[in-house]
Amino acid sequence: MSGRIIDGKAIAASLRADVAAAVKALPSQPALVVVLVGDDPASQVYVTSKGKATREAGMRSVEIRLPADTSEADLIARVDALSRDPEVDGILVQLPLPKHIHEANVLAAIDPLKDVDGLTEASAGKLVLGKPGLRPCTPVGSVILAKTERPDLAGANVVVIGRSILVGKPAALLFLEQNASVTIAHSKTRDLRMVCRGADVLVAAVGRPEMVRGDWIRPGAIVIDVGTNRVPAPEKGEGKTKLVGDVHFAEAIQVAAAVTPSPGGVGPMTIACLLRNTVLAACARRGWTVPDALAQS
Ligand code: GUN
Repeated sequence: MSGRIIDGKAIAASLRADVAAAVKALPSQPALVVVLVGDDPASQVYVTSKGKATREAGMRSVEIRLPADTSEADLIARVDALSRDPEVDGILVQLPLPKHIHEANVLAAIDPLKDVDGLTEASAGKLVLGKPGLRPCTPVGSVILAKTERPDLAGANVVVIGRSILVGKPAALLFLEQNASVTIAHSKTRDLRMVCRGADVLVAAVGRPEMVRGDWIRPGAIVIDVGTNRVPAPEKGEGKTKLVGDVHFAEAIQVAAAVTPSPGGVGPMTIACLLRNTVLAACARRGWTVPDALAQS
């Protein structure tokens, strides 16, 4: 038996097309600013693709790349200036930041109305309280992908492995908002394999290459693999690497009803949801009506 591959690229392309159509209907172009500190290679790639996708959706993209030794005070001053700039609709500070910078202090300088990553205290509070607000992109993308397989998640057992602020915690709350019964599993969870085997929807967001094996998955489950890990690939030649998820894809696809590949699953959805959040943030802050193209998707 073999499960379906959930085509994150295609689903993201469709959402991006909706965003582009919505942008055309706006009185002016929204602007997204992405701030990158340091030279982490993975972050460089993400930031470049976010900028490209923003422009392709018809919006303005500004990339601010700062050296790794930028001080926390300097970074906060930059973010604060962006928060005050009326021309800026969305602010994203790429994580992780260099070790000498406290992420929480920097995130606190983002105007919640421009918080397209959904990471400020205000956005997190709204999510917990069930109030409308900007939601974190990767968790939203994970829910959208799960719903392509199971549109009604009410009563589904969802297990989220990982409790990060960026993914695990908000993903759990978003699945709860869908009336799923949610378990958050993490490094201290006892008998993780058996907990995962209880999942109708298994969301892996731990950052450990291929940790979730076939026998962790309930036959017929939906598996959402949030991980993107770079690992050695000697089969491709000496010193070569490749990207793999947190799920052992070849084993998972034998057991599950459907699995997201990594890369090509959740990653493209993160960017599409970021673009959507930028439009939503611009509409809310500038008093524009959300165009029909996005109101439904
Ligand atoms: N680093 C990896 N994913 C993300 C993301 O979605 N947002 C931010 N700000 N940093 C990230």
